[in-house]
Amino acid sequence: MNFETRMIPSLKSALHNHVVVVKDDDIPVGYVYSNISPKETYSNDFATFFDLSSVHRVQVGCLSQFFIREEYRKSGIGSRLFDLSMNWLQQFDDIDDYFIFVSNGNDDALAFYQRKGFVISHEILDGFITVLRNQ
Ligand SMILES: CC(C)(COP(=O)(O)OP(=O)(O)OC[C@H]1O[C@@H](n2cnc3c(N)ncnc32)[C@H](O)[C@@H]1OP(=O)(O)O)[C@@H](O)C(=O)NCCC(=O)NCCS
Repeated sequence: MNFETRMIPSLKSALHNHVVVVKDDDIPVGYVYSNISPKETYSNDFATFFDLSSVHRVQVGCLSQFFIREEYRKSGIGSRLFDLSMNWLQQFDDIDDYFIFVSNGNDDALAFYQRKGFVISHEILDGFITVLRNQ
């Protein structure tokens, strides 16, 4: 998973993309990437990420990638970026469902999203990924 194999395909398959980058002077220290995609995007040869019939609208939102450089964590930057992501997603009136996919063992991120109101829906790929969705 790297920029070419993950970021570029996501950007291309999504209908709308939103990236916020945080800089300390000129140094990038974090970013959040969110997108809007047709729900069918999430059922492919790799995995079925969620039951498509549980989504009534045509498109879904996703907080897709999120990273703060370690020494900048726990000072509120992630919360600010999370809010910017949600505010952007909520501009799309015809979308009700937002997803976040967390890798197995990333308990800090899982707890972070749960404190922000997301709930665990299910696991996929033999528990390798936990699927979170908005309530
Ligand atoms: C998940 C991640 C983006 C959160 O970013 P962050 O900048 O640490 O987030 P915040 O500082 O806003 O919040 C984290 C916690 O730090 C603490 N915190 C926040 N501001 C604080 C402050 N001023 N003083 C003390 N503690 C503080 C709080 O406990 C806070 O949690 P809460 O707001 O839910 O109570 C970050 O940990 C990260 O990049 N992790 C590695 C990559 C990753 O796992 N990404 C997610 C992939 S799904």
